[in-house]
Amino acid sequence: MIELDRGAGLEAIAAEVRVCTRCRLHEARTMAVPGEGSPDTEVVFVGEGPGYNEDRQGRPFVGRAGALLGKFLTALGWQREDVFITNIVKCRPPDNRDPEPDEIAACAPYLRRQLEILDPAVIVTLGRHSLGRFMPGERISQAHGTVRPVDPATGAANALAFALYHPAAALRTPDIERTSYQDVAQIPAALLAARARREAAPVAPSSPVPPVPDPAVAATPDPAFLAPSEALAPDDQLTLF
Ligand code: URA
Ligand code: SF4
Repeated sequence: MIELDRGAGLEAIAAEVRVCTRCRLHEARTMAVPGEGSPDTEVVFVGEGPGYNEDRQGRPFVGRAGALLGKFLTALGWQREDVFITNIVKCRPPDNRDPEPDEIAACAPYLRRQLEILDPAVIVTLGRHSLGRFMPGERISQAHGTVRPVDPATGAANALAFALYHPAAALRTPDIERTSYQDVAQIPAALLAARARREAAPVAPSSPVPPVPDPAVAATPDPAFLAPSEALAPDDQLTLF
């Protein structure tokens, strides 16, 4: 898909999200937060849901957690505009409570469609709810800093998920912040591994309605995939695209 088509497709989804009433989270929102970034990126960051500042501005990760995410990107030589940043739910849960299962389910088609358009190589999960979508069954304490192939039913046809602690957790706990910087430094290696996987086994662009996965042939993690630490040493600054 050329960039213009992707941008238009993402904007069409964003327009739907801004007026969406599919779950109760629309009732208390100021602005919905569809997500933003480069339509042509290889790397998508997925958080949990908008907080206070995001709800006021209609943009993802613009508060304190967003500032830390910005520092993570800077450490990689990347900018916000180089990646795409979005959330599991697009409207702020009141008082920043956890999103509920029915709210997560109601909002899921928007992220799935965003990922169908973006076709990222790497999805960086931020926190528990995002981990649950892209690395189901994993615990953040074990999974942080590691990659796992993504189920194409998520919308991402051929991607590796890379798990990070949520930046808000890093803000609360210095140990987690230190660990997160170490994890972030592995993202370029994850991207190289993802590119290699995509070249070895290209997947045809997904159809508008992805097939329902057959549980009998459920995606089994590929035992051969590289853990980031085993992957090729990345260049200091790996250029996106
Ligand atoms: N936390 C999130 O999970 N998402 C945001 O957009 C901001 C804070
Ligand atoms: Fe719609 Fe998602 Fe907002 Fe719920 S959280 S109202 S499903 S955009």
